[in-house]
Amino acid sequence: MKFAEMRSFPNVYQNFDPKDPKLLGINDEYFQLKGQWAEKHFKNNNPITLELGCGRGEYSLALAQMYPERNFIGVDIKGARIWKGATIATEKGLSNIAFLRTKIEQIDLFFGPNEVEEIWITFPDPFVAKENRRMTAHSFLDRYKKFLKQGHTVNLKTDAISLYEFTKEVLADRKDVEIQEDNSDIYAGEVSEILNVKTYYEKIWLAEGKKITYLRFILN
Ligand SMILES: C[S@@+](CC[C@H](N)C(=O)[O-])C[C@H]1O[C@@H](n2cnc3c(N)ncnc32)[C@H](O)[C@@H]1O
Repeated sequence: MKFAEMRSFPNVYQNFDPKDPKLLGINDEYFQLKGQWAEKHFKNNNPITLELGCGRGEYSLALAQMYPERNFIGVDIKGARIWKGATIATEKGLSNIAFLRTKIEQIDLFFGPNEVEEIWITFPDPFVAKENRRMTAHSFLDRYKKFLKQGHTVNLKTDAISLYEFTKEVLADRKDVEIQEDNSDIYAGEVSEILNVKTYYEKIWLAEGKKITYLRFILN
């Protein structure tokens, strides 16, 4: 029922074929949004933030309410989670947030050069045994560079120490990166309103007593 209902949502776009960068939107209409999210979806030129692996979209929903003058797109492959986020966005009347259901491996098919001003990666799966699937692996950062505006930021929030350390190694390897903030335990000190947003998974990890880490870096 959720999957059928989602096809009538005006704030959800889905890709079903990794070889074909078509996006299915409201009422099974196909959309070409690469380079055209401002014009065709948001109908304004406000800056766009992406949340990768958004799950139910808690971060995007919170930021969309804090920053009505910015636009947000939650991206995840799991339909039921996106259904939840998109339903809440509609209930709250938020027109500055949309959801994209796709694999992050093909995210660059759906955004044009300079189309995105900020990226959040919130509690991604650490993929302990599969380095190349981690959302901060070199191949993923190279993909983000294709559409992230020059000199803008990527934020990673994670409980997984292995992923935090891995990301720092990747960043240290690169000449196009400038780390702006590196915090191995955000709740040990004062946290900003933005960092204090807690996702579904973050609440689980905090209840288990895990520390939450944060990295913010510029990709040039
Ligand atoms: C641990 S959950 C975190 C969800 C949410 N950000 C939170 O903190 O509650 C990781 C999410 O990333 C999504 N994900 C993992 N790998 C992905 C990929 N390659 N493409 C799209 N989504 C992916 C999963 O479907 C899942 O919803």
